[in-house]
Amino acid sequence: MRGKGWLLSAVVGCLSLVAVASAQGYPGGPLVAVTDTGPFCASCHSSADREQLRGLPAAFIENQFFETKHYKAILEGRGPYKDMSPRDRERLLEDVKLTDANARVTLTAPGTVSRGQTVQVTVTTRGGAGPVVGVMLVDTNHRLQSRPVTADGWMIVGAPVVIGPDGQEQTKWVNSRIPELKKNLNFVLVFGIKSDLANKVFPETKVTYTLRAPSEPGRYTMAAAFIHGTEKASPLGVVQAAAGPMPRGGSNGPSSRIRFSVVRTITVQ
Ligand code: HEC
Repeated sequence: MRGKGWLLSAVVGCLSLVAVASAQGYPGGPLVAVTDTGPFCASCHSSADREQLRGLPAAFIENQFFETKHYKAILEGRGPYKDMSPRDRERLLEDVKLTDANARVTLTAPGTVSRGQTVQVTVTTRGGAGPVVGVMLVDTNHRLQSRPVTADGWMIVGAPVVIGPDGQEQTKWVNSRIPELKKNLNFVLVFGIKSDLANKVFPETKVTYTLRAPSEPGRYTMAAAFIHGTEKASPLGVVQAAAGPMPRGGSNGPSSRIRFSVVRTITVQ
């Protein structure tokens, strides 16, 4: 018990440190951080499933799960939701649920490759509140422990190819790197995201990475992390602020998500 209590306070302490360090959060996406990161950085976000928190204390898992962290806060009219009428909170929750139900991410990757072979993997996303969504290639579907695939022998060759919701290729993100730096980024922001809840039209994006396979044979795992908002998709979830549209739950709020694809196993021989 003592061990678990210690772990819980360490985790909570760590997360609040992260939250304080970036007190504004990133509604609108971390536009200035044109670099690689991990899903752990998004400490305010809610987890779209419990599996991504496996191994952590049960109470911590529950508190990060979107139904507890986000839905419950709206339902109970806590914090920034306290000034909304019960009817508006109900409608906001319906919109958020619709956004969640239509958000998904898939990763397509080959099952077997040769050592050092150049291969392509594609991450497809659907949904999100906009104006952007975030995509990363990680080694597993764990919110606090997954690492960029490059930590496990894979190398990203060249800039990822990003197709926005309009079907056009986007270079805005990789070209936001200062010219002297390489563009073979793992973390990608896709622009032009907007969900139309009334007509149930949800944006789709595609990010294709070219990877060089590890030089060591073995079984490797890979997943895509999908980072997106929910509230700004709803007319009731947007608040106009000087800095632009903000989610009703605030910049430290729980309205964004961390979602993972199915984990693929790739045999390198
Ligand atoms: C202090 C809280 C906080 C932290 C820390 C945080 N975010 Fe967010 N993030 C938010 C909020 C709030 C939203 C808006 C959600 C919405 O609109 O429902 C958001 C939205 C996003 C979006 C989607 C854009 C949008 O506005 O819908 C991306 C992508 C994102 N965050 C990535 C990140 C990444 C990557 C990190 C770590 C570097 C991070 N966030 C850390 C609070 C945070």
